[in-house]
Amino acid sequence: MKSIIFVCLGNICRSPLAEAVAKEYARKNNLGLFIESAGTGDWHIGEAPCENSIKVAHQRGLDISSYKARQVTKEDFSAFDVVVGLDDSNVANLKALGCKNPLKLGDFGYNGEDVPDPYFFDGFEGFDKVFDMIESCVTQLLNERV
Ligand code: 4NP
Repeated sequence: MKSIIFVCLGNICRSPLAEAVAKEYARKNNLGLFIESAGTGDWHIGEAPCENSIKVAHQRGLDISSYKARQVTKEDFSAFDVVVGLDDSNVANLKALGCKNPLKLGDFGYNGEDVPDPYFFDGFEGFDKVFDMIESCVTQLLNERV
């Protein structure tokens, strides 16, 4: 079975959405993938996703309320076939931790753009765009690479 892990900074806003979108796409298309997400930081280990990510996911028919944040480990780099950062700093952090070939999510249909970090957004505004970008890029990634 092929495996994929999405990595952002806190694992509470962006990468849980990527995980949920990928799991739903894999389920619908019988792809048989193992999918997880993680953060490079340790501040939110064990926490549920941020409220606004839970909300936007719910609006799109996905339930991420039971997800728990975890920190990425070096073991993940050998355990997962594909490691995907959500922005340039995630990719740089992954390389610094020893990940040899991280992909960047925005390279799949969004001209290499960063998925904006919504942690400091003012309320819910912006989460729809973040979701749209993640959904589009994850779908293209799974079509191209898996
Ligand atoms: P995420 O967002 O990387 O999309 O989960 C963030 C979550 C927490 C922090 C930064 C970004 N933080 O600084 O705690």
